[in-house]
Amino acid sequence: MIRGLGHIAGETDLLHQQHIKAAVADAYQAIGTGAGEAVVARLYSEDERRLLPEGAVTWALGVGNPVRRAELRPGETVLDVGSGGGIDSILAANFVSPGGRVIGIDVIEEMLARARANAAAAGVGDSCEFLHGEMEAIPLPADSVDAVISNGVINLSPRKSRVLAELYRVLRPGGRLTMADLLVESELPLEVKTSDAAWAG
Ligand SMILES: C[S@@+](CC[C@H](N)C(=O)[O-])C[C@H]1O[C@@H](n2cnc3c(N)ncnc32)[C@H](O)[C@@H]1O
Repeated sequence: MIRGLGHIAGETDLLHQQHIKAAVADAYQAIGTGAGEAVVARLYSEDERRLLPEGAVTWALGVGNPVRRAELRPGETVLDVGSGGGIDSILAANFVSPGGRVIGIDVIEEMLARARANAAAAGVGDSCEFLHGEMEAIPLPADSVDAVISNGVINLSPRKSRVLAELYRVLRPGGRLTMADLLVESELPLEVKTSDAAWAG
């Protein structure tokens, strides 16, 4: 059965978006660990690995290494969108110290707790803050961050334009956005567009 056809009819669009958000949140709530070592082995260097506590490695769920390209500098404020277990927030904190800070946001409380514990274990707990929040409604004021990083997160949103507008709002003039993510280059079949597993995966 094809589910979630609400997006075809404009008036049910919001309900459909709620359905996708709930499916994504459920999937990340239920996720077990295991793939993190393989993700880190493929995407992070030995030098980066040495800065990471085991918990941050275990919970690595990203698709790239945005910090490596973000050109972060001491004193900067960085937003990590969908910070998960905190792997990129921890690496970013090493670049913005002294004087800078990293704010991670995520919708899953357990992820936020893991990120806080992992940042503390990495010795960067004082320069990292992890907030509950949605990328579609970022709980930060306008013009408040120098750089945004994100790793495998924006593809999960049913409102990608809204997310990009939010990132633009919170970035200071001249701010930078570095994201690693999944892209589709052609139209996806309806069965994929309406699959909870495809949205979450
Ligand atoms: C693929 S994981 C990536 C986590 C982390 N960036 C990393 O590289 O390990 C996606 C993360 O986005 C979070 N997430 C999902 N929907 C979100 C939303 N609407 N706003 C903020 N975070 C969200 C999930 O809870 C999960 O922690």
